[in-house]
Amino acid sequence: MLKKILVCSVVSMFVLGGAVISSMANADKGAAEIKMVGSKSAKPKPAVFPHAKHQEAFKCEECHHGMADGKKVAYTEGMDLKGKKCEGCHNSEYEALAGKKMGKLKLDTIKGAGHGNCLACHKKMAKEDASLKERKIDKCAACHPKKKK
Ligand code: HEC
Ligand code: HEC
Ligand code: HEC
Ligand code: HEC
Repeated sequence: MLKKILVCSVVSMFVLGGAVISSMANADKGAAEIKMVGSKSAKPKPAVFPHAKHQEAFKCEECHHGMADGKKVAYTEGMDLKGKKCEGCHNSEYEALAGKKMGKLKLDTIKGAGHGNCLACHKKMAKEDASLKERKIDKCAACHPKKKK
């Protein structure tokens, strides 16, 4: 009897687990590898971004958010992110962000958004974890690889 119950619950765990996994796979997670260019910048400096790798380690809300009435709104599960580039809001034409800053970073630039999110976390993690410091994830070249000759 006990064995039968156990088998049943294991099977239902598989079924439930499978449903959760497939619904996660259905959500639009964007590209696995992204190159951020900064198209509206005077001096763009492309950044490489292994999106999928970050998704394994961090929650979507660590980076994604939306906006309502000019204010930031927190990410909610299933939020439609298609086409919502950071630069779509973080640019000089967007009045809601004009003059807004995070420390010294100007949030009405893609650099401000990129460094406020990406670089800030990389610096924090490198401080906390010697192996990440050794890999220099807090240095410019981690995200802005030198051009190949
Ligand atoms: C470490 C930061 C980070 C995490 C974590 C993250 N993303 Fe992203 N995501 C980005 C950045 C940056 C872009 C590129 C935006 C751009 O090009 O301006 C992006 C792009 C996307 C896009 C494509 C938008 C487009 O261009 O059409 C989707 C969809 C997306 N992410 C979904 C997700 C989901 C779902 C999660 C959680 C499972 C997630 N992301 C986790 C940073 C992140
Ligand atoms: C729909 C518009 C919109 C999009 C898309 C958007 N942001 Fe923002 N972001 C905002 C607003 C509004 C604020 C709040 C600014 C303020 O009032 O200080 C903000 C704030 C920030 C801040 C300052 C710290 C904080 O959390 O308040 C960072 C860093 C940031 N965004 C990075 C990003 C990154 C990286 C992306 C792309 C993955 C992104 N943003 C996409 C509108 C947007
Ligand atoms: C919440 C923290 C966090 C945020 C936000 C974040 N990263 Fe990272 N990133 C990490 C950590 C931690 C690693 C190292 C992961 C590992 O162990 O491989 C990493 C690794 C990387 C790597 C590989 C570096 C190497 O030499 O192995 C690149 C490139 C990178 N991130 C770019 C970005 C960009 C671009 C953004 C913003 C769009 C970003 N990251 C946002 C934490 C973050
Ligand atoms: C963790 C990732 C990361 C690190 C480390 C990093 N950056 Fe960036 N940087 C970005 C992202 C993301 C952007 C915005 C997207 C783009 O324009 O490429 C950006 C944009 C820029 C820009 C473009 C400015 C503009 O207006 O287009 C410059 C210049 C720049 N970074 C310089 C640096 C320098 C110098 C360092 C080292 C002190 C550095 N970055 C370290 C991610 C990073």
